Amino acid sequence: MCGIVGYVGKRECLPIILEGLKRLEYRGYDSAGVAVAQSGKLFFQKKAGKVSELEAALVLNRLPASTIGMGHSRWATHGEPNDTNAHPHSDCSGTIAVIHNGIIENFQTLKTKLQKDGHVFKSATDTEVLSHLIEEIMKNGNDLFTAVRLALKEVQGAYGLVVMSSKEPEKFVVAKLGSPLILGIGDGENMVASDAAAIIAHTRQVVYLNDGEVAEVSADAFKTTTLDQVEVTKEIKKIDFDLSQIERAGFDHFMLKEIHEQPETIRNAMRGRLQVEQGGVRLGGLEHVQAKLVNARRIIIIGCGTSWHAGLVGEYMLEQIAKIPTEVEYASEFRYRNPVVTSEDVVLLMSQSGETADTLAALKEAKAKGATVLGVVNVVGSTIARESMGGVYVHAGPEIGVASTKAFTSQLTVLALITLMIARAKGMSETDGKILAKELDALPDKVRKVLGNADQIQRLADEFKGSNNFLYLGRGANFPVALEGALKLKEISYIHAEGYPAAEMKHGPIALIDKNMPVVFVVPKDAIYEKVLSNVQEVRARKGRIIAIANEDDHEIEKLAEFVIRVPRTYGFFGPILNVVPLQLLSYYMAIARGTNVDQPRNLAKSVTVE
Ligand code: F6R
Repeated sequence: MCGIVGYVGKRECLPIILEGLKRLEYRGYDSAGVAVAQSGKLFFQKKAGKVSELEAALVLNRLPASTIGMGHSRWATHGEPNDTNAHPHSDCSGTIAVIHNGIIENFQTLKTKLQKDGHVFKSATDTEVLSHLIEEIMKNGNDLFTAVRLALKEVQGAYGLVVMSSKEPEKFVVAKLGSPLILGIGDGENMVASDAAAIIAHTRQVVYLNDGEVAEVSADAFKTTTLDQVEVTKEIKKIDFDLSQIERAGFDHFMLKEIHEQPETIRNAMRGRLQVEQGGVRLGGLEHVQAKLVNARRIIIIGCGTSWHAGLVGEYMLEQIAKIPTEVEYASEFRYRNPVVTSEDVVLLMSQSGETADTLAALKEAKAKGATVLGVVNVVGSTIARESMGGVYVHAGPEIGVASTKAFTSQLTVLALITLMIARAKGMSETDGKILAKELDALPDKVRKVLGNADQIQRLADEFKGSNNFLYLGRGANFPVALEGALKLKEISYIHAEGYPAAEMKHGPIALIDKNMPVVFVVPKDAIYEKVLSNVQEVRARKGRIIAIANEDDHEIEKLAEFVIRVPRTYGFFGPILNVVPLQLLSYYMAIARGTNVDQPRNLAKSVTVE
């Protein structure tokens, strides 16, 4: 989604801003723009398309050298992605520049009022209303900080905001409500960004702004208050990843790199937590709420997209192993249906980014209703992590590929750890605990083995690259794997794919099956293996083209399937961690075979910070 980067200091700002914008490209965007201040004036350049197109425009139309400036990559909500609608937006006098992530919900009311007062709008965006509103308030002699503060009091919606004024050209005023914003603290220079990736090359010292805070940032200092002018003391924190983790390291795409990182990221999710010899788990972030978890009346897992799929697998683990009734909800549905939630419920928010607007709103809803609200989050210091009462970081490291891969398997690993921790606290024997702990401990090596099938999967993708529909089927804990496989294929190769519980096929989707329909079965040798095999037979009888994800010792399946991708055996509920990996590779190689943009698929954003 939209990206923000700003620099104020001693160095020429434009190269730093453009580099930052490139590091934010993974978030998904459709136009970009910059503004710099020089000699009491603001200078802008904005362009539809990629940052490279903005750079080309800057070659033709050079901006003056400056040590303060800001850049934005826009993912269109209000107004099509063209040069005019790109940020930064200015006011009538051209003395104010605004970049904004989020949505101003009451922009139409504010715009109408400002137009009556004589303001002339150039763009179709909601953001432009902020520049004119700030301009209007500054007319009364207010300084920039006060004007931004007062303007935001009139605004409904969400924002991560950076404002510059040619009248106070040595500073930014920034504010946050519902959209992420961090300050990067340097030596004689400071930065502002929506995402640490934009500033990590320059500083690892950051300040996370909280909702409702406004900050004034100059080269040597920053001050933070609430909208009501109450001073806030901010702590400087250190980012726990480095530049190498957000680079491709020799892989053609971030997605491929991240798929191959999984043996390591799964290990990282367990490191220092899984106690193999004691058959137990220690999760520091949950110790203070362990009793709540163990005695929960029910657990509600909430997320969106891939994180929701992880939650569905978690439901099987928590109900079957830890014996706690568990429900899984789409965050976007939960937040608006006035759900019955009590203080005996534990709500687990699943989120890679920790910034998804719907998941954050669901968190607030559950908190307001008295539930114990816990986060299972990847991005350290993100809003969901900070607003939760406790939780577990999945420690997958920065995930840059828009299609989530390593975060998913790390989420599943953490859900398995939480499950084992609860199960042991509820009386699971040490012997049984050890069996599960050993299975978990063996997963990284087994994932490595699955990755060894990459060449076979690439050949498979070549075989099926002309197919325009796919069906993914699985049962039990592998039904969410089927959903995830279908989602991955849709996202990056734009092929229509449906995930279904295998047994549901005969209630409708079976009508789709003919000799042209590829059907991917996730069919490990678990308790319901024979049942899924019957579904495989049903597809075969109708001449569907069967691709099976099956265990190494399964010789039955090769008689029925046209292609078999092998995965090692593991304990049933941990199977999804292995079974999803070939599906990630299949979607990757299908996208390569069809020539789509793997890391920046059309229309998608890495972190969906608007409703
Ligand atoms: C799919 C994908 C999305 C996200 C969803 C939630 O590959 O990445 O479906 O899973 O937008 O995002 P987070 O986990 O950041 O809350």
